[in-house]
Amino acid sequence: MYRDLVQGVDTLVKLNNGKSVKYINFDNAATTPPFKSVIKEIVDFSNVYSSVHRGSGYKSIVSSRVYDEGREIVLDFVGGCRDYHTVVFLKNTTECINKLSYRLKDTLGDKVVLTTYMEHHSNFLPWKYRYETDFVEVDELGRLSLDDLEFKLKLYKGKVGLVAVTGASNVTGYINPIYDIARICHKYGAKILVDGAQLIPHSSFNMMPPDSPCHIDFLVFSAHKMYAPFGIGALICPKEIFYPGFSEQVGGGTVRFVSTKDVIWLDPPEKEEAGTPNLMGVVALATSIKTLQGLNMESIEKYERNLTKYALELMKDIPKVILYDDMRVHEKVSIISFNMEGLDHNELAAILAGEGGVAVRNGCFCAQPYVQRLLKISDKEMEKYLRDESLPRPGLVRISFGLYNDYNEIYLFANLLKSISENINFFKYKYRNHPFCQC
Ligand code: ALA
Repeated sequence: MYRDLVQGVDTLVKLNNGKSVKYINFDNAATTPPFKSVIKEIVDFSNVYSSVHRGSGYKSIVSSRVYDEGREIVLDFVGGCRDYHTVVFLKNTTECINKLSYRLKDTLGDKVVLTTYMEHHSNFLPWKYRYETDFVEVDELGRLSLDDLEFKLKLYKGKVGLVAVTGASNVTGYINPIYDIARICHKYGAKILVDGAQLIPHSSFNMMPPDSPCHIDFLVFSAHKMYAPFGIGALICPKEIFYPGFSEQVGGGTVRFVSTKDVIWLDPPEKEEAGTPNLMGVVALATSIKTLQGLNMESIEKYERNLTKYALELMKDIPKVILYDDMRVHEKVSIISFNMEGLDHNELAAILAGEGGVAVRNGCFCAQPYVQRLLKISDKEMEKYLRDESLPRPGLVRISFGLYNDYNEIYLFANLLKSISENINFFKYKYRNHPFCQC
């Protein structure tokens, strides 16, 4: 039902033996192909595309309206509050978190930012260099420890200003109980940022009313993981945080008045978006949101959950497959990480692509501290990789489903995985000279 909505799902690719097969894209956590509706809208909208907030012509007026309506579409999609929240359009989740870390400095001052061992580097590095930071622990199987969160909030005695936490992990797919986390944060006077990059494409979301103890203070996500890959991401947060100070990037479109001596900044969100905005990105995102809403997020969630359940059931019975998963399918998005005994993650990823046209991601997925914990590698052991960058790095193989993937693709993948596990030495030899991509 969903497959028809997505561009390029029947693309043929060449295998190692020269034969062509349909590409099986199990790398949707990295980026998704576009919806056909998005491509159509981009092409149709090109007829009226023009400058935003900078022109008096008809097309410019239409373009400005469409851009501004984009913010309302995003706010409605995530249950934001028009009087209270603003939507800032930036390049992607990473840029949104970087902006927030810069712009919150005045408010947070020397407060501590708590992040977690589950985070993507983009929800850790921007905080690390501007604030005192600490990490909330994960348990044996990689679930976030709410006990440790509360322990650390108490330990810092009201000094924690922000907890930056992912909505869902890009490695295990585990969904964090963000409303419980929000309640705990607010109890100790801290705000909460949810990195929604892996959650928003798969699940309905609500910021909750600002006076609710469970409300989410800051939310970020990227359109390229939700079928609209045209370089746009959104930061949703209280308007008020942008009144003091000014953006880390300034220039056209951010000011009401400029002389060589004085500046009067525009109100947020415009003062945060220097330069000509990415209107096509917003058109793509708004169309993708409308398409997802038309399909119903609950139905998508249910379908993807069934795909994940099916994949886990098949994979758990394949000899030599090591799953990094607690099998609580109802508390995760459609991401599964695994390894195979006797094969390096680079080899396994290359074999899957070369033998079955299956696209996966392997390595540490820009979440090295988390992968280190899942693999139970000590800090001491990690030092050897720091000293010698030429050593093959530890890592995992990840599959991640979008709404257009189907049971047959999972069946083909699982059969291939079984065949690899039964012929490890044969495949190891066959792929011995393969150029690996590790990230
Ligand atoms: N964060 C993206 C991933 O997990 C790029 O692959």
